[in-house]
Amino acid sequence: METIRNKSFEEIYNHILGEIQRGSVDRKHPFHLCFLSTINNLTGFPDSRTVVLRKIDRDSFTLRVHTDSRSEKIHHIKSCQNTHLLFYNQKAKLQVRIRSIGKEVEDEQLKKEVWSQAQEISQRCYYVPHSPSTEINTPFLNSEIDSTDQNLGFKVFSILEFKPFELDILELNYEGHLRASLKVNDGNLEKAVWLMP
Ligand SMILES: Cc1cc2nc3c(=O)[nH]c(=O)nc-3n(C[C@H](O)[C@H](O)[C@H](O)COP(=O)(O)O)c2cc1C
Repeated sequence: METIRNKSFEEIYNHILGEIQRGSVDRKHPFHLCFLSTINNLTGFPDSRTVVLRKIDRDSFTLRVHTDSRSEKIHHIKSCQNTHLLFYNQKAKLQVRIRSIGKEVEDEQLKKEVWSQAQEISQRCYYVPHSPSTEINTPFLNSEIDSTDQNLGFKVFSILEFKPFELDILELNYEGHLRASLKVNDGNLEKAVWLMP
């Protein structure tokens, strides 16, 4: 199993970027899913949830996630851009914790392009008649979806972008666990140190 022990910080950074890139294109890769935390300013508690990593731009180190514009996470990010992404690869025993600045993409043209490339099964999630987190009387059924509703679908499709600035990398290792902290700015590695795991 590949280890980060003998790698330079630059190599570690590139390795992590490569793993995240793989996660964005390979549905079976453990980094395809990540755990996004936002600050819920109504409760003061962080809220976490599983999301699909849709894209990474390696040059600017920007991560992309799709969501429903009516969802809580969007409201949180609009009031506080401080966000956190957590990845874990059980086989490689590799945890990556990312502090990031999140925002909703406002470029309508980009949203249209991404929407038109999305699979029908993914598009269907955006035709649910009630906003996520709405209280309902009976458990939801897909038969309630009306995929011709002009007020849903693309209208509630939203793209979130995250710009990481600090990575905390932990690899569990028989010879001694390895933990590195990397500070990045617009895709450039600016500072890196080893930390006690
Ligand atoms: C495997 C899995 C993948 C998910 N992917 C997404 C996703 O890509 N985008 C999303 O908005 N919600 C996704 N969800 C649902 C979220 O975890 C969450 O329940 C939902 O978005 C409501 O979150 P919120 O009320 O905090 O905004 C996924 C859930 C699971 C279990």
